[in-house]
Amino acid sequence: MSLPKQVTIVEVGPRDGFQNESGFIPTKQKIKITDQLSETGLRRIEATSFVHPKAIPQLADAAEVMAGIKRKEGIRYMALIPNVKGVERALQAGVKEINLVVSASESHNKSNLNMSVAESLKALKEVARIALDNGMRIRGSIATSFGCPFEGWVPPEKVDEIAREYLAMGVHEVCLADTVGMADPSQVSQMVSRFRDKLKDVEFSLHFHNTRGAGMANVLAAMLEGANIFDASICGLGGCPYAPGATGNIPTADMVHMLESMEIDTGVNLSKLIECARMVQDLLGRVLPGQVMKAGIVPWATKKQASS
Ligand code: COA
Ligand code: ZN
Repeated sequence: MSLPKQVTIVEVGPRDGFQNESGFIPTKQKIKITDQLSETGLRRIEATSFVHPKAIPQLADAAEVMAGIKRKEGIRYMALIPNVKGVERALQAGVKEINLVVSASESHNKSNLNMSVAESLKALKEVARIALDNGMRIRGSIATSFGCPFEGWVPPEKVDEIAREYLAMGVHEVCLADTVGMADPSQVSQMVSRFRDKLKDVEFSLHFHNTRGAGMANVLAAMLEGANIFDASICGLGGCPYAPGATGNIPTADMVHMLESMEIDTGVNLSKLIECARMVQDLLGRVLPGQVMKAGIVPWATKKQASS
């Protein structure tokens, strides 16, 4: 097997994870969790989103979260942005990296962002201009790239079109998102090989949800085609409230455990990450999907970590 030696994990729990929690997580707790995630060796964290507070009441405290977290040297903190108002708020909050979002399917975009895809792209062009003028880094995410909860099959040509628009805007990264976990490993192989060359001048990342249990198989399929940046969420929290049936991302500790067992370097300290996951489970007060935080670490998963 030809696998990457190193993988970058983008921890999206504080955004994708928290946004799907019904009970409001006090701002102080959000900050505490994010600060603890920053101590695990993760190099990228999606900290919050600057969306309409009525759309996602849970993240109405985005500015307070950005002001409260300790931004550790060497970690890239990102925030999700749907429109111009969002980037203006993010700028004020001192955000340095943004995650733009548009769906490859009209129905999900309308449900999630109350815009047509064309309207979203028009708004995002302006967002990108403002961001670049202010020295921000930009990820362009394409939601429902592998299937839509309303429309079903999403033609890859539609994803192509949006990726091209993002590249024309000058983004630094394109992320294909499987918003409701509809992808399978064969489809992932095809999509990664389709996009690998088109996206060779930017970072190319994948955002899987474990909705139907195929999350880690999809990561493996993507790695075999050369992908090496994956989103994951602490304890497997997550989901888009505007997509019926959405559930969490791949639990971060499970992803780190699998990769480190395969001797793929993630830079993450598994023991510290599990400690953090258990704290999150305690704070939220219910059993969460993460497996490794319950089962424990197999001895060789941390072989390299122990000797380094
Ligand atoms: N942050 C805060 N307020 C915002 C905002 C933002 N990013 N974008 C718009 N608003 C405000 C406007 O200022 C306006 O306020 P006013 O009525 O006082 O003038 C009001 O919201 C309506 O603006 P409009 O552009 O018509 O927004 P909308 O109601 O059509 O909502 C979005 C569009 C994109 C803002 C909303 O659907 C949204 O935030 N969706 C995000 C959903 C999400 O996060 N999903 C999960 C992640 S993928
Ligand atoms: Zn997601």
